[in-house]
Parts: sequence; structure tokens; C-alpha cells
Amino acid sequence: MTESASRNTDSRKNDPRIIVALDFAAEKESDALVASLNPSMARLKIGKEMFTRFGPEMVRRYQDQGFEIFLDLKFHDIPNTVARAVAGAADLGVWMVNVHALGGEKMMTKAAEALREFGSDRPKLIAVTVLTSMDASQLSGVGIQDTVENEVTRLAVLARNSGMDGVVSSAREAGLIRSSIPGDFCIVTPGIRPGWAETNDQVRIVTPGDALKGGSDYLVIGRPITRSRNPSEALRLISEEIAAAIQITP
Ligand code: C5P
Repeated sequence: MTESASRNTDSRKNDPRIIVALDFAAEKESDALVASLNPSMARLKIGKEMFTRFGPEMVRRYQDQGFEIFLDLKFHDIPNTVARAVAGAADLGVWMVNVHALGGEKMMTKAAEALREFGSDRPKLIAVTVLTSMDASQLSGVGIQDTVENEVTRLAVLARNSGMDGVVSSAREAGLIRSSIPGDFCIVTPGIRPGWAETNDQVRIVTPGDALKGGSDYLVIGRPITRSRNPSEALRLISEEIAAAIQITP
């Protein structure tokens, strides 16, 4: 069985690939959107803005409604602080949490160790490699004289060797990461737009089907669902596209 086939077997039937990015400044709007979604079809991503405004209470509320949460806080600090922060996320019961790979091997290793005591219930711990807002000249400005692709690959391998379960990556780099890192390593991809959706401010977009075929496991999708006139229908359409893509992935 090929690797992508084994990533797509029946054991993952109840593993929704869509993570809905909740980017709302108003709690009521977010609550209304979440109420229209089915937790068996999607997980939810809560990031810095909403966590800063609404805190752990919102995470608990959505978990009580049956949703699994990706807490997208991208921790980057000294190893001890990041380890304690990811343990806090595990205590909160989230499904996934992340750190910046640029925090280095010690930081990531210590974060992974901090989650061990949570056993099989622990959150998935993933790393951000290079933010998509960075290009080669931005990298050069912070002292990294290399291409984005090389830096992404280097940091993904470091993340893997430091005990991370996976990385956040643009669809463009997912194939590169898959070919550099064999085995079970999870790739989470934003910048997804179905053919029927507006592109908004995303520049390098891919369709849900192409992202999965290119090696992504989970798709972070915001506005095509959250700003749709009919969010549950948008979610259903994207889920169908994903189901079709998974079936034809070799
Ligand atoms: O609405 P949209 O689908 O563009 O939302 C994508 C989500 O993924 C947002 O929460 C955004 O911050 C996040 N994201 C992204 N591109 C990255 C990293 C994260 O769009 N490179």
C-alpha cells in the first residue's frame, strides 16, 4: 500500500479533514456559525485574535457542543514556557496545538515531552515552518540566506526529529515535505478555495481536492464556509469534494 493510501484508509472515516477557521471579532457571530455546523464534518480552529478576546471559555463551549479544537496560538518562547503553554492546551482538552519550529529543537523537544503524560488523549503537536507572509527577502532580513523551500524542508525535518506530529504548510510545499519525511507525519494546509468560492486576499490558493492529492491531511478553511450565505451547505459541498479526492488518491 502506498503512503498516501495508508493515510486514507477506513480507519480515518471518522476523521474530518476540514478545520473551519473561526476569525470573528464578535462572539455572537462565531456562536451562530458554529451552531450551523455539524461536528462530525469539521473541526474548528481558534487563533490568537479570538483566544485573546474570548479565552478558554469559548474553547470549552465549542468542545461541549461536540467539536474538536485546533488551538492555533503558534507558541514561540523559551523551552520551559512553551512546554507549560502546550500542557495548558492539553489540560483544556484541545485536539491540536502548535508552535513555531524556529523556536528550535530544544523548545520543540521539551514541548513534546510535556505532552507525554497526557497519553493517547494528548493533543497533536504541530509546528509552523515558514510563515507564508515571508519570502526570500524577508528571510534574508532576519539572517536566513536561503530559499523558502530549503528553509521549510530544513524546519520540517527538524520538527519531525524533535517529536512534532506534523507541520502547517502551504499546499505548494506539502509534496516537498512528504518526499523529505517518510511515514506518518501530518500536514495541515490553509489557503484552500473550492472552485466556486471567492479568493478573498489569498494569493496562492488550491482546491480542497488538489490539496489532499498533493499530500495534505487537514485543510484549514475559513471564509468559503464562515462567510457563505449557507455555511452548512458550503461545508457539505467541500466534504463531498474531499470524499471524491480521497477515493481517487492512489
Ligand atoms: O478565510 P481563509 O480560508 O482565508 O482563512 C484561512 C485561515 O488560515 C485564517 O485563519 C488564516 O489566518 C490562516 N492562515 C492562512 N495562511 C497561512 C497560515 C494561516 O490563511 N499561511
